Amino acid sequence: MNLNAETAAVLDGKATAKQIRQEVAAGSAELHASHGVVPGLTVVLVGDDPASSIYVRNKEKAAKKCGMNSSIVSLPANTTEDAIISTVERLNADPAVHGILVQLPLPDGVDEQRVIETIHPDKDVDGFHPQNAGRLMIGIPGFVPCTPAGVIEMLKRNEIELKGKHAVVIGRSNIVGKPMALLLLREHCTVTVCHSRTKDLPGVAAQADILIAAVGRLGMVDASFIRPGAVVVDVGIHRVEDEETVRRLFGEDEKRLEAVRTKGSTVAGDVHPVDARGRAGWLTPVPGGVGPLTIAMLLKNALDAARRSVGLD
Ligand code: GUN
Repeated sequence: MNLNAETAAVLDGKATAKQIRQEVAAGSAELHASHGVVPGLTVVLVGDDPASSIYVRNKEKAAKKCGMNSSIVSLPANTTEDAIISTVERLNADPAVHGILVQLPLPDGVDEQRVIETIHPDKDVDGFHPQNAGRLMIGIPGFVPCTPAGVIEMLKRNEIELKGKHAVVIGRSNIVGKPMALLLLREHCTVTVCHSRTKDLPGVAAQADILIAAVGRLGMVDASFIRPGAVVVDVGIHRVEDEETVRRLFGEDEKRLEAVRTKGSTVAGDVHPVDARGRAGWLTPVPGGVGPLTIAMLLKNALDAARRSVGLD
């Protein structure tokens, strides 16, 4: 633990993500050379939500850069649930597609769970299918959701000791909080999961050696949540569009203020950055922390899916 520092050391997710992407690119080339197989990742986007469109394009671009075949299936917002299911079934049957990702959220009225359960578990690179969730639960190989898997990779590659540490996860979503808790448990942490109904949330969080903030509320995790020297991982990502909020979170940070003035926004996480920098031992920045790891782990899962398709483990 970095107890003596006045400023938290940066946990550079971007650098870890780059390393992982390089390994995936090498693995893709090797699979092509040995088996003539190019990993294929298909992303299904329903509707034209601007944020989802950007995420999906970034995933496609990153996969191509790693030597994969990647494509986006774009469906209009009014596509019926049955038509989405048919698209997924067609991709399940296509041997050139090793990984399928259906971008969430789906339009109102579409049963997301039914769509997720249609994805073949061997192509479920998001790790959202109940079979993969169950595999994670009992500790047998399967696909693990990309964001929590990326957090573990980052902590390990930065030689953060996990065994025996008290990890507190704030958030209990199926995508981040619950799988994060299971992965930390697998690494021999003592795990506490907190949520909006937790009594004395700051008091519980402040017991953590490792604090994972996945609450979805801008800047909520302030100094009162952070034990001095703790490792703080910020999974949140929020657009900030007004200078007053920037000042509340970042103080007189000219770069951030300039971004709001010229580009209209900057991004921040669930953790109050100035508070955390003065108290944590290690901290993930936003942007450049957890975000890039999510895509890197998606690519790793897609490569694993392609390798398994030819009988490699
Ligand atoms: N929407 C936001 N994050 C994710 C993700 O990791 N996977 C999918 N499929 N949709 C998302």
